[in-house]
Amino acid sequence: MMSIVLIGFMGAGKTTVAQTLAKTYSLDFADTDLQLGRQFAQPAGDLLRRVGEDQFREYEYQVMQQMLADATPIIATGGGIIESPASRVLLQQEKKVIWLNVDYQTCWSRIAGDQTRPLATKLSSSELQERFKVRQKYYRQVADLEISATKKSPQQLAQEIWRLTNIRD
Ligand code: S3P
Repeated sequence: MMSIVLIGFMGAGKTTVAQTLAKTYSLDFADTDLQLGRQFAQPAGDLLRRVGEDQFREYEYQVMQQMLADATPIIATGGGIIESPASRVLLQQEKKVIWLNVDYQTCWSRIAGDQTRPLATKLSSSELQERFKVRQKYYRQVADLEISATKKSPQQLAQEIWRLTNIRD
């Protein structure tokens, strides 16, 4: 079975939806941020602060590559993973990359002031919105499926993703 890989901006709900999918359909799930946290024995946000964005993207790439090699059924990624060209190449080879597309205001309302997300505290709202814009084109570029996720519950999204990805098996 090909991995279902969830991509999208911070606050789109990738981790929650991945957990819901895993629980509902009894599948293993992995999250690049959680895995980095385990590997480096510090939360992903602290790792990002310590090593900087470029190095973080490299680690993120390696972690995702391993998860795909292990055929992990459900993979949640960090919102910035698509800023790495190497990660984009890897994602483009996959067949079940799901973009949870949530509007900027909703993402912002979920992440503003979140100390565990360095970019959400370091960047101003307008800088972050600029990142959002730049990233939209990368999400679109690597996604096999785009799902409008703004007003849907994790359960609804999990069902929708499951239905759509099984059709493509
Ligand atoms: C990041 C998103 C975070 C985390 C790190 C960087 C980003 O993950 O990987 O703080 O650059 O968008 P979430 O998308 O789960 O918040």
